[in-house]
Amino acid sequence: MFNEISKEMSNRMRQLEEIDKIDRGNGTPRLERLRQIPPETGKFISLMAANCPKGEFVEIGTSAGYSTMWLSLAAKERNIRIKTFEILPEKIKLAKETFKTAGIGKYVDLIEGDFLELGKNIKNIAFCFLDAEKEIYEKCFDLVAPRMVKNGILIADNAIDHYNEIKPMMDKAEKDDRFDCLMVPIAKGEFICRRK
Ligand SMILES: C[S@@+](CC[C@H](N)C(=O)[O-])C[C@H]1O[C@@H](n2cnc3c(N)ncnc32)[C@H](O)[C@@H]1O
Repeated sequence: MFNEISKEMSNRMRQLEEIDKIDRGNGTPRLERLRQIPPETGKFISLMAANCPKGEFVEIGTSAGYSTMWLSLAAKERNIRIKTFEILPEKIKLAKETFKTAGIGKYVDLIEGDFLELGKNIKNIAFCFLDAEKEIYEKCFDLVAPRMVKNGILIADNAIDHYNEIKPMMDKAEKDDRFDCLMVPIAKGEFICRRK
């Protein structure tokens, strides 16, 4: 997958990485920042997604579409479309620009609005990347968990750098008999839940 990244996608990745780096250092307000994953997390989630069972790919929190570009590599391999949810209009605009310039419109459905409302319509989730506001992780877990297929994977980002905020969700998943869970210390910490 990784050697199939097009020049256009690679250019857009570099551009967003640069904006994200500047945002983090110059005091840009939190909600205006891209707050995107680093490349090693991108590789990790795309590898996991590529090996999931048959079903829907879902991403909660698109921002400018950086993580979606990584996931599109797996979607391309599986010949499916990712459903990625974003609530903020400014981010939706940037994401549309990303999907157009990276040439991945064929593999992405950008769903504009609140996942907690719109996500209720999704069934058969084989892979879910959860990277939204930390306060809604537990609600997202409650919504996604019963909609997952056997052997489906949910990955929650920020399990290390926002440990305290997402602990309630991680504790709940650990206690849930339907799941095997593990925190993987890649980058900001990836909490994996496998639906049995
Ligand atoms: C950490 S950023 C996502 C970064 C992105 N995954 C990446 O790595 O490129 C979180 C995003 O989630 C969006 N978000 C927060 N709550 C949401 C909700 N309820 N439904 C959809 N999107 C939401 C925010 O607007 C923000 O753009």
